[in-house]
Amino acid sequence: MKKKHISLIALLIVIKSLAFANTNSLIADTLVHGKVLSDTDGKPVNAHGPGVMYHQGVYYLFGEIKNGKTWLVPGQNWEDYRVPAGGISCYSSVDLKHWKYRGVALKPTVNDPGSDLDTGRVIERPKVIYNERTKKFVMWMHIDKNDYNYSRGGVAISDSPVGPYRYLGSVKPNDQMLRDMTLYKDDDGKAYLVYSSEDNNTMHVCLLSDDYLKPTKTYSRIFENQKRESPAIFKNEGKYYLITSGCTGWSPNAASYAVADKVTGPWTQQGNPCKGLNAEVTFFSQGAFVLPVIDKPGRFIFMGDVWNKTDLERSTYLWLPLHVNNGKIEIYNP
Ligand code: DGJ
Repeated sequence: MKKKHISLIALLIVIKSLAFANTNSLIADTLVHGKVLSDTDGKPVNAHGPGVMYHQGVYYLFGEIKNGKTWLVPGQNWEDYRVPAGGISCYSSVDLKHWKYRGVALKPTVNDPGSDLDTGRVIERPKVIYNERTKKFVMWMHIDKNDYNYSRGGVAISDSPVGPYRYLGSVKPNDQMLRDMTLYKDDDGKAYLVYSSEDNNTMHVCLLSDDYLKPTKTYSRIFENQKRESPAIFKNEGKYYLITSGCTGWSPNAASYAVADKVTGPWTQQGNPCKGLNAEVTFFSQGAFVLPVIDKPGRFIFMGDVWNKTDLERSTYLWLPLHVNNGKIEIYNP
């Protein structure tokens, strides 16, 4: 009886470690270390400031298309490097390893300076979620002009995850600035925009309408005067985690993460989630998204951009496994 008991425990340990090894190899195969990430046609993935939506067994990756020559906007007191905005790309994958190019999900407009989507504008950090009630895919993104003072959230919808998305317009939520942003859909179906506001001094978390197309009046101010940007949010074991960067333009800086019991806060800063060599510059990247690996509770991928500020089209990516240990985030660059 005792012997039987021991072998059962041994069997359970073997099964558990096999499952862990599988998860590890999935994530390890998926990592991108500041190298060019190629799609299934061998072409470089052009999806910066990305977001990923998981829908019916498929991961959809959306990102900024950066196409053409980078130039420095004159008359700014910061390194305002710009590249033509090529719209939003879409890639899909079932294994997080092979990414198939699905085309331009949201097309830019050309020689149309009055349009939010003109190639001369800023179209950044697109994120997509699905609305079960309206059966529409909803994309939000940061829309701006060269000096980044337009600071609005643009919204587009589609019947299909890959697009084409129809642009509905842009808004300043509650008359407040919106720059770096992310979108979060909670388990109860409520969705929130999280964005740098008040001239990047303070972040806001704003509840969206039930169709996800409009900001509501319900919003909170978080990280007051902490000057944070590039928000990436996820939930683990009932707690919310929000990773942000400092505000140093295209140059890397130290990330910080905060924890909360509710999306709207209060949020408590916990310090830098990155560990080891070059942790103080997020391993030369800036966060954009945290991807929960489906069916692997507690396993996440931190997705960052490695900006090449003088040649933005050549910017690459850094995807790393993210672990939460006893409520604390740890990101290592192996
Ligand atoms: C940092 C932001 O996180 C990027 O998305 C971009 O807006 C640059 N600043 C512009 O300098």
